[in-house]
Amino acid sequence: MQNPSSTISALLQEHRRFPPSESIASRANARADLYERGREPVGFWAEMARGIDWHTPFTKTLEWNAPWAKWFIGGTLNASVNCVDRHLADGRRTRAAIIWEGEPSVPGNIGGEVRVLTYGDLHREVNRAAHALRDLGIAKGDRVAIYMPMVPEAVIAMLACARIGAPHTVIFGGFAPEAIRDRVNDCGAKAIITADGGYRRGNVVPLYDNVAKAAEGAPTVQKVLVLRRVGEAVRPVTLKAGRDVWWHEALDAAPTSICPPEMVDSEHPLYILYTSGTTGKPKGMLHTTGGYLVGTMATARAVFDLKDDDVYWCTADVGWVTGHSYIVYGPLANGATCLIYEGAPDFPDKDRFWQIVAKHRVSILYTAPTAIRSFMRFGDAFPARHDLSSLRLLGTVGEPINPEAWIWYHEKIGHGRCPIVDTWWQTETGQILITPLPGVTTTKPGSATFPFPGIQADVVDEQGNPVPLGSGGYLVIRHPWPGMARTLWGDDERYRETYWSRFPGIYFTGDGARRDEEGYFWLLGRVDDVLNVAGHRIGTMEVESALVSHPSVAEAAVIGVTHEIKGQALAAFVTPRAGIVADDRLIDTLKRHVATTIGPIARPDQIFITAELPKTRSAKIMRRLLRDIAEGRVLGDTTTLTDPAVVADIRERYAHTEA
Ligand code: PRX
Repeated sequence: MQNPSSTISALLQEHRRFPPSESIASRANARADLYERGREPVGFWAEMARGIDWHTPFTKTLEWNAPWAKWFIGGTLNASVNCVDRHLADGRRTRAAIIWEGEPSVPGNIGGEVRVLTYGDLHREVNRAAHALRDLGIAKGDRVAIYMPMVPEAVIAMLACARIGAPHTVIFGGFAPEAIRDRVNDCGAKAIITADGGYRRGNVVPLYDNVAKAAEGAPTVQKVLVLRRVGEAVRPVTLKAGRDVWWHEALDAAPTSICPPEMVDSEHPLYILYTSGTTGKPKGMLHTTGGYLVGTMATARAVFDLKDDDVYWCTADVGWVTGHSYIVYGPLANGATCLIYEGAPDFPDKDRFWQIVAKHRVSILYTAPTAIRSFMRFGDAFPARHDLSSLRLLGTVGEPINPEAWIWYHEKIGHGRCPIVDTWWQTETGQILITPLPGVTTTKPGSATFPFPGIQADVVDEQGNPVPLGSGGYLVIRHPWPGMARTLWGDDERYRETYWSRFPGIYFTGDGARRDEEGYFWLLGRVDDVLNVAGHRIGTMEVESALVSHPSVAEAAVIGVTHEIKGQALAAFVTPRAGIVADDRLIDTLKRHVATTIGPIARPDQIFITAELPKTRSAKIMRRLLRDIAEGRVLGDTTTLTDPAVVADIRERYAHTEA
């Protein structure tokens, strides 16, 4: 299990608690009886399902034939209708759906360019884009990849796909061409939607160029739709005739009429989202329509306590599940006003986030512990420069939050006034599963507190028996929930094996957790070879495959080491092929190679060159030992090693690198 340091500090601070304030409790969306109602999950979720618009009502709530779940059987609906059309009828036509701010500073402006799309505007744009996709030959069931900057068109593209029943697969804009190609090929995408570029920390990310490279080896791709974001003067691109079309031309040519939504079965695929697992091949988690919308809408409403006068800002990228569930589907299904910011938190200066909060009067902020730890490091002066009085609720996601960061967030950002919701969930779960309910739950810094109503989470030992309160084990979920992934795209068996075989019929999360004497859940990090670097999920095997794909490398092992800001950082141990000169240049080359194969987020912080990797007699790499070495700890028992000299060699080299 990883992240022991956050566990220790959590234990130290367990006595600190923050009960809900009267003012929040009195007007919160969630009431204590929600937990009561959630005791019977099937009835509870059927009740939650009344919050969305069904074209045909469902006749049965759940069909559960472990591990295969079907929710809201017989129901038909459309996700874009639920996120957009229905808000035109409920008085939100002129209300902002999206407030967008670009990264580059605009002269004479505080901050960057701003665009506001009302629900009426969003409706028009989604309809135009849906028409354009249909005109390009995209039909129900076809997969569409989206590789976009953080601009409103990314959301419009997702909703346009949903409107015509074409599952989207959003690929994070930081991924490299090879990673794009793997994903596009795995799901057989027929089209890719991208942009000429996007701004990130003052640079232009060459999105179109990456897509063009990826598309070379992607035979299913027939069309590429290209948004002009940065413009010809900044990044000229030459479209490939016959395949590529400008977004604005395609939308201008589309009819201005409403594009009739495809009313799909509740279990129709809404999207595929790739995430790292314990093998080199990313997994395409498949999410379907009805259950996912119910799960994300109900949780967004209760956890973020969304109200009509809120400005809600989730700082994630739409390329991750947090962006899918809590920038797009959950908040928009609730008719919320969502802020979207294109760029980096520290550009042009370290107070950009706080400037945005003040400028747009953000009331709900949802971000990652890594960001909070960076802000702590930058110093209190940056948030202190800005008026943060609009904030009323703060959230975190993606990794355990250490109590120190929780307290800082509470005091320096929330000014002691805002409840914090530490939300635990995964790409697989689709929706938040463990979280406080603002106005209801007493929080403890560092604990995600309790399962959401209707969720049956537990902590079990190796045999699957619940551990007594006060001890740790594996986090599992006993009863299905509507937002759960249904399978892995094209690989039912791997889905069953990965999540449902360790404890038959019970969902295995891959996380360790502990419950304290009062039943609070404390997340302890992954128990498998998946790392969490700055809230991003990275499989050690993916990085190892990238390293060994380099001609200089014979063997590689990748581990996560504790990192003060990022939670974990990547360290790699590499054995070069015979005759290769192992010097600093090789280390640089290999770091770059990983960044250009997977993406900059997978670039190892440290690479140690070693003559051999330490292995057990059964030829398994001793990762624990590598972690001890990389973190400078005293070595434990190494008697199972084939050649203890390897360890001495590694230690010696490590000491050398440190110096
Ligand atoms: O280890 C847990 C960690 O992030 C993993 C899921 O990563 P991903 O699928 O990329 O989704 C991230 C956003 C939902 C989990 O297995 N994790 C997520 N949220 C928390 C967390 N760990 C501790 N506390 C959290 N609040």
